[in-house]
Amino acid sequence: MQDQMMDFAVPPWDRRHLAGNAGRLEAGGPGKSVPRQSNPSETTSVHEESRFLRACRREVVDATPVWFMRQAGRYLPEYRAIRARVGMLEAISTPDIACAITLQPIEAFDLDAAIIFADILTPLICMGLRLDFVAGEGPRIENPLRASRDVDRLGTPPAAETLPSTLEAIRLAAAALASRKIPLIGFAGAPFTLASYAIEGGGSRTYELTKGFMYAEPAAWARLMERLATVTADYLVQQARAGASALQLFDSWVGALSPLDYARYVAPYTARVIQGARGAGVPLIYFSTGTAGLLGEIAGLGSEVVGVDWRIGLDAAWRQLGYDRAIQGNLDPVVLMAPWREVRRHADAILAQAGGRPGHIFNLGHGILPATPVETVRRLAAYVHERTARREQVVV
Ligand code: CP3
Repeated sequence: MQDQMMDFAVPPWDRRHLAGNAGRLEAGGPGKSVPRQSNPSETTSVHEESRFLRACRREVVDATPVWFMRQAGRYLPEYRAIRARVGMLEAISTPDIACAITLQPIEAFDLDAAIIFADILTPLICMGLRLDFVAGEGPRIENPLRASRDVDRLGTPPAAETLPSTLEAIRLAAAALASRKIPLIGFAGAPFTLASYAIEGGGSRTYELTKGFMYAEPAAWARLMERLATVTADYLVQQARAGASALQLFDSWVGALSPLDYARYVAPYTARVIQGARGAGVPLIYFSTGTAGLLGEIAGLGSEVVGVDWRIGLDAAWRQLGYDRAIQGNLDPVVLMAPWREVRRHADAILAQAGGRPGHIFNLGHGILPATPVETVRRLAAYVHERTARREQVVV
């Protein structure tokens, strides 16, 4: 048993922080729970008047805020230069490097928010899974969950102990962004999307193993989702405390589910994460793709902002969600590879659907792709600002 625990409990990439600290390691063992948050008001809430945070609160803005999911990534030559020297997990677990990568798109373009450089999958390492990013292939987990008993080996360690480097990177990046009045977004993966990687061991087209586990082992599935919810809610709160001014919960692959399964097997746990993270006192964006048929359920989860993809019109999505939510989206990232006139046509259509209503954050419907021309990114960010600029002074 001890050997199995060791297999599962040692995050292989953050050993520098864990070395010589057996007590911390044990905090990752089964049955240990995350401490309650005592004082959410400690949350750093800088840049409250920034366009991005105002839009999250559905307040009037001087121009529509813009940022791009995966804006720190392989389409940027300066990102590729760092990655040529440093591995993915090493870059994430070295605060200076993670901070520098976070700032790269902010230096390059006129963006209204930064997102911390990390990955949704690192908490799985801390829970006991062996993850690597394989060049040209993506994430791979060496010891995926395949049986009910595998779930019981997963720990629920507090982020402050197992993800200190990302929390430190947030402190550094938030401090560097403060003078520019640009808010920093912290993020985590939602329980279903994390479970899909933990069970499949990597990406999937059909989610056969994930759904198979969910249907065949409902009790183990519930325990897994509970553990993921516990770890994720704590991680998000800690990111806000470290200086993130908003949080995004990525549920990238939940569109694979029917509304019935989403309501039964996923929504209660996702709602728990959102409620837990809201204790941090910063806005939360729930993002998913392929979920045009789930928006009624999604509205019920209680996030202030909902991110949607391009498979639904922004106006139709907003109608379904209700106008008491802010909305983020929703340009197809492939459009960024098209000639500028086409990019502009799509951006205009999205802005027309938003109709000048407060609470729109311009973004892509999914992450920016590696082949995206840098110049188009620059031009689009500037265009959205210019096209939506309000002439009259906004009275705050
Ligand atoms: O948005 C940002 O700029 C911040 C950093 C960020 C990364 N991953 C860095 C990364 C964020 C927010 C993520 C989220 C993430 N990671 C998601 C949810 C968003 C989405 O796109 O659906 C998912 C599903 C992952 C898991 C993941 N990480 C995959 C599938 C891959 C490989 C495929 C790919 O897109 O490259 C990664 C690796 C990864 N995460 C890279 C980056 C910059 C590429 C690493 C490299 O080769 O340099």
